[in-house]
Amino acid sequence: MDVRTAIRTRRSHKQFTGVPVPDAVLTELVELATWAPNHRLTEPWRFAVVRHERLPHMLHAIEHGLRHAGGDEQKIALQINKVKAVLHEAGAVITLLRHTSPADPLLDREDYAACACAMQNMQLAAWEQGFGSFWSTGGHFVGPALRSFWRAEPHDEVVGALILGVPSGELPSHRRKSPQDLLYFV
Ligand SMILES: Cc1cc2nc3c(=O)[nH]c(=O)nc-3n(C[C@H](O)[C@H](O)[C@H](O)COP(=O)(O)O)c2cc1C
Repeated sequence: MDVRTAIRTRRSHKQFTGVPVPDAVLTELVELATWAPNHRLTEPWRFAVVRHERLPHMLHAIEHGLRHAGGDEQKIALQINKVKAVLHEAGAVITLLRHTSPADPLLDREDYAACACAMQNMQLAAWEQGFGSFWSTGGHFVGPALRSFWRAEPHDEVVGALILGVPSGELPSHRRKSPQDLLYFV
């Protein structure tokens, strides 16, 4: 698959077959992530990798966090089931963390941008090998309850969790605006 095809055909997949993503693939995805452009070569990333067999531990941490926060038991059970359905079928998770620089807003912004490029490198490289993924920044996959699971340090930001796996179900389709509606030559 060439780069242009990978860019055009990658979609966010949220349904998987439960097939594990091999360690060698996970390691290479991280290596490819590190080739993302990063200003001043700060290499502002770390990667917490959860193999398929460790996903129940991640689920356990999420469940613990939800129960600890309290609230309506029925609602919690629903949330847990939703997360469980995804993690049960996922092949692995790679979470990208970065050390933030609150004292240097420009550096901080550039580092975040570099991390976003790294995330996309991984998504495209995974897709090129037949692994779908979705980038999660919200909800239960990156919430505060998981910070200790990720071994996040106080100034770390969780840029996103990449939930990976062999896709199942229907291929999601999304539209994009036409370049003619977006560009102007100057
Ligand atoms: C910064 C960022 C955060 C995202 N967070 C989430 C998320 O929390 N949950 C989710 O389901 N998808 C998330 N996505 C995926 C987008 O929803 C998805 O890329 C968008 O719907 C377009 O679909 P496509 O990736 O199939 O083209 C995120 C994407 C980006 C770039």
